[in-house]
Amino acid sequence: MREEKLFKGKTLAILSGGGDTPAINSSIESVRNRATMLGFKVYGIKRGWKGLLGDGDVVDLTQKPYNPLYGGTALRSSRTNPFPSKKNPEDRVPQVMRNLKRYGIDVLVTIGGDDTNGAAKRLYEQEGIPVIGFPKTIDNDLRTLTWHEFNGKKIDAVTCPGFPSAALGVADFAARLKTTAESHARIMVMEVMGRDAGWLTGTATFGGASLSLIPEVEMNKERKEHFFDLVQKAYKESPDGALIIPVSEGVRWYNEQTGKTDVVYASTEQDEYGHARLGGVSGTIASEISAKLKIDARAQITGYYPRSGMCSAYDRRMTQALADKAVDLLLREDYGKMPVLNKVCNFDELEEYNCSAIDMGKIGNRPLPEEYFDAETLCFTPMYKDFLTHILGENYTYPTFHTDFPKVAPKE
Ligand code: F6P
Repeated sequence: MREEKLFKGKTLAILSGGGDTPAINSSIESVRNRATMLGFKVYGIKRGWKGLLGDGDVVDLTQKPYNPLYGGTALRSSRTNPFPSKKNPEDRVPQVMRNLKRYGIDVLVTIGGDDTNGAAKRLYEQEGIPVIGFPKTIDNDLRTLTWHEFNGKKIDAVTCPGFPSAALGVADFAARLKTTAESHARIMVMEVMGRDAGWLTGTATFGGASLSLIPEVEMNKERKEHFFDLVQKAYKESPDGALIIPVSEGVRWYNEQTGKTDVVYASTEQDEYGHARLGGVSGTIASEISAKLKIDARAQITGYYPRSGMCSAYDRRMTQALADKAVDLLLREDYGKMPVLNKVCNFDELEEYNCSAIDMGKIGNRPLPEEYFDAETLCFTPMYKDFLTHILGENYTYPTFHTDFPKVAPKE
């Protein structure tokens, strides 16, 4: 039997770092399968960069069964930063270099957001490690230079693996909250992950939400007053006598006591990339709505729910298309790049010819484009709706039940 594989004898290793998403296993499996076909031996590095420290923690993925649809990451994750940070001033790059050599790793595929891929880019530039980045984040705020055209306007948007699955979770969460909110004529302030950007918060509008708060629009003293006016009006006009208000965990909210406009922290302890844990702003907002408008309001944190569970069909197909592109980079030994979607597209357009590769130097944080959110009405725009319709599909809908039973008068 002839075995003329292009990269026979070479080893590719995959790692995943940062917050998990439901699409990481699909990315790992897709890259693994394609690289194996080219003749690579494929390793998995456990717990992100952590698996390349100390003695190393590396497993063999070649020809092992792998469930691509199961959420999370079978390689596990961590927020380990090999470069010195406030939390860990030690430079652990020499450990990474040593282990790459010890395990005979020739190429690295790093599945991550801005932090993990930022570190990968530095390793590529400073140490010359052959690296290919692979995007992931439920927050969808990793710059991918994916263009979106709508009504003659063309902007650079983002479509990141993990976001489509999480979007389904958020939209479904909002649609479910609506039924209990309607029963009690309440306002539900629904907190959604999104430290720096409101991409994911907007997906609640596909579950029946309208007014929203996002990190990109600071809620200072004046804007807060405007928000309360909008809430009162929207509640009064709501056909079902209830409101779902999605808010990003990273929204900056004016604090009457301190006189400052800031985010709400769940813990001020920072990780190795300098991020503290956010959470709890929905509680503050709900109490203030109740106190100010005398409307029953409750807070609900969606938390890890949207980040959990199975990989969606859109994410599955997108990760496969991006893996095709990653393999194209491998074939050409074109490192320091990350495969991305060229344009915001429908499910059946998720193909390699709609992917390209961007220089990892170009990645970074991409806030929600201003064309997607109206800071005056605090509502997502038709252009955002078009963006999300490409991902969730034309037929995505949620149940409604408008009750207009005729009133019965007493007999006497
Ligand atoms: O992956 C990004 C993210 O989803 C942020 O929105 C959130 O602040 C963070 O993860 C929280 O993750 P963890 O609690 O796992 O550190």
